[in-house]
Amino acid sequence: MAPKFQAPRGTRDLLPQDLERWQWAEAQARGVLERYGYREIRTPLFEEFELFARSSGESSDVVQKEMYRFNDLGGRELALRPEFTAGVVRAYLEHGLGGRARVHRLWSMGPVFRYGRPQKGRYRQFSQLNCELVGSAAPGADVEMIALFVDVYEAWGFHGLTVVLNSLGQPATRRAYGDRLREWLAPAGERLSADSRQRLVTNPLRVLDTKDADDLALFEELGAMPRLLDLLDAGDRAHWDAVLAGLEAMGVRYEIDHGLVRGLDYYTRTAFEVHDRSLGAQSALGGGGRYDGLAEELGGPPTPGVGFAIGFDRAMLVLEQRDAPLPAAAPGVFVAAMEGTRAEALALTRALRRALPAENDLEARSFSAQMKAAGRSGARLLVIVGEAEWPRGEVVVKDLAAGTQETVPRAGLAEALRARLAQAPPAGRGGAPEAEER
Ligand code: HAM
Repeated sequence: MAPKFQAPRGTRDLLPQDLERWQWAEAQARGVLERYGYREIRTPLFEEFELFARSSGESSDVVQKEMYRFNDLGGRELALRPEFTAGVVRAYLEHGLGGRARVHRLWSMGPVFRYGRPQKGRYRQFSQLNCELVGSAAPGADVEMIALFVDVYEAWGFHGLTVVLNSLGQPATRRAYGDRLREWLAPAGERLSADSRQRLVTNPLRVLDTKDADDLALFEELGAMPRLLDLLDAGDRAHWDAVLAGLEAMGVRYEIDHGLVRGLDYYTRTAFEVHDRSLGAQSALGGGGRYDGLAEELGGPPTPGVGFAIGFDRAMLVLEQRDAPLPAAAPGVFVAAMEGTRAEALALTRALRRALPAENDLEARSFSAQMKAAGRSGARLLVIVGEAEWPRGEVVVKDLAAGTQETVPRAGLAEALRARLAQAPPAGRGGAPEAEER
């Protein structure tokens, strides 16, 4: 019988076995972020709806169709965050971070919410690893960002990733480009999908985001799509050239994609994405770019910034598909009590847990039941709190992998156990066998 309640559509439970991979990946990413000098920032899961409407763009899909928007009991119009950038820049301005240091390197990780149509790699609650470098307009900041993105993926074992990039220039450049696109698409007329015709009116760059196969065939037929790069002003052109030169110097592989426009409206100049085709339609492993006008749009002083978000769920899907091995969990000890040493065994378990993974039998069962539980637990060592040994200041330690047993003093027991756990298990004996009865 199906259970009465299930996780809401588009959300998932991450069970302990899934989270081992997630936590490993998080730890790897943190290491890279620290080495790049990034510091964590945590912003609320919800913000004023207006913040997202202003930053992502009123006509973006995120605002139009995908926002979890609600009124709280005080009548405030709020929304669950669909991304991090708006909240991070809001916090930067609210706390006057610009006055404290010129450049801030900030990272965040956590759930974001978009009401899209769920499918493989696309969820309504998903996780992003988000990075922002706020306060520098230099092309070197864009280069650092892209290299960081690639290095996080390399720490997860992805090699040979290709970054696709484009420049989105300034708002005026994009308006001019929108006109070019309209001219280019004019001969297609009614043959364009209804969605794309609508976008051609409200936000013509978004037409290039279409997934409609007939639209894509039409683009082929029309040929020679206008290129935004051809319309860049001198400043944007110099910035673009410097970004490409920096990427080459750092050895980051890239391709230019003239159709890359991104789904959020705050971008200026550099925009980039990384894809993994094995993911099918939802292939973007992450993306980002520069947003030099965003702080002003939110009422702050002019503040350049560049950032990216990695779709954590998608990265983990690829790792799962590859069945990438995880480092084995740290082996531990199982503390077994005799009839007369149950209290002593409890105290010993708690003391050992200050130093290493330790387990005991919760149900105060017979010694033979404890032996079976120890075998199933995956513990490497069995610590037997013997009625004869305990008063002498000793316990019996059995190595379940090697099959050896010895009496060990209680003084310094944790260190002695740790030293034994650090030794490699004997060859050819995978995992702990069932413990024998004593
Ligand atoms: P975005 O491209 O909208 O950028 O999202 C980044 C990544 O989040 C995507 O490339 C994808 O991997 C993942 N993602 C997006 N939607 C979903 C979904 N429904 N399910 C699973 N994964 C998804 C941003 O969010 C920008 N804030 C990035 C940025 C930071 N730009 C500058 N700074």
